Amino acid sequence: MRAEIARAVALLRAGELVAFPTETVYGLGADAANAAAVAKIFAAKGRPSEHPLIVHLPSADHLARWARELPAEAEKLAAAFWPGPLTLILRRRPEVHDAVTGGQDTVGLRVPSHPLALELLAAFDGGIAAPSANRFGRISPTTAAHVREELGGRVPLVLDGGACPVGIESTILDLSRGAPVLLRPGAIGAADLARVLGRAPELAAPKAEAPRVSGSLEAHYAPRTPLQLVSSDGLLFALRDALVAGEKVAVLAPTAQAISHDLVTWTQAPAEPAGFAHDLYASLRALDALGCVRILVQQPPAGEAWLAVNDRLRRAAAGSGEEDET
Ligand code: TXA
Ligand code: MG
Repeated sequence: MRAEIARAVALLRAGELVAFPTETVYGLGADAANAAAVAKIFAAKGRPSEHPLIVHLPSADHLARWARELPAEAEKLAAAFWPGPLTLILRRRPEVHDAVTGGQDTVGLRVPSHPLALELLAAFDGGIAAPSANRFGRISPTTAAHVREELGGRVPLVLDGGACPVGIESTILDLSRGAPVLLRPGAIGAADLARVLGRAPELAAPKAEAPRVSGSLEAHYAPRTPLQLVSSDGLLFALRDALVAGEKVAVLAPTAQAISHDLVTWTQAPAEPAGFAHDLYASLRALDALGCVRILVQQPPAGEAWLAVNDRLRRAAAGSGEEDET
């Protein structure tokens, strides 16, 4: 076993935290079978303890250790998409700690596809509870450097696996209530799920799930600088207003820089959803650090392909401009 993996496993077994890369975002991991270790996650993040965590597994073979019922749909989806950016909500076995499930009767499970995550999980041979490795309500980290910025001395080891290839959090599908319900959109879209399920998942009403899915809180994934979503015309008007007012602004838009000015920092975003998602959090983090009055983001098109990106942008706009709630 490689030395850094051995060290990570030793820390996890000792009830300590380890941050690690997944294909979506970096996770802040603890031994999911150790309630005291899991409690350290909430302390490090400043996250309310009733918010449930996803348990990361080395393979679908581990499902039955955590879920007491395995609907045929879960097995089909696991076969189709794991390892990969899909979290399944299933009825939990009674021994799964309340610290992990937030006291609910269900547990979130996924097998991530990042090679370093899989290496860690295989060596640990158990479940690793891990939320995104950011302070509560803030932008999820997609590089090891982001994790160190967010959590610094609060985590003894950050495994560095480079930039996360997907860049936004996993799709969450609830299979605990009969009809599958999409709780959080992600890179695996409703149409991908429907192909395997033979029916379209229901879409959760965004606010109805708020206490259960922290990713469904409106104020989430948010920069400190106020973030405004604008149309392409709206962008030009907003820029003009900012320049008239002498305000420093940052722009994230899928088009080449339309205006060159000292007060404007323009970042061109990829024009397709996967590329946009890949760069999104790193771009928001960089633009947030500029000390601008506003971040203007040109809203991507509506429609299924952009659902996950638009979801994250809406929440980033809703929660922006606030001081840490912790
Ligand atoms: O891509 C991801 O899912 C990343 C990486 C690290 O795996 N993790 C992540 O974790 O985004 P977190 O904690 O930031 O978001 C997980 C979401 C939360 O909104 C949580 O409320 C929800 O999953 N969740 C976990 N268990 C649940 C359950 N039993 N029922 C409903 N929602 C659940
Ligand atoms: Mg998160």
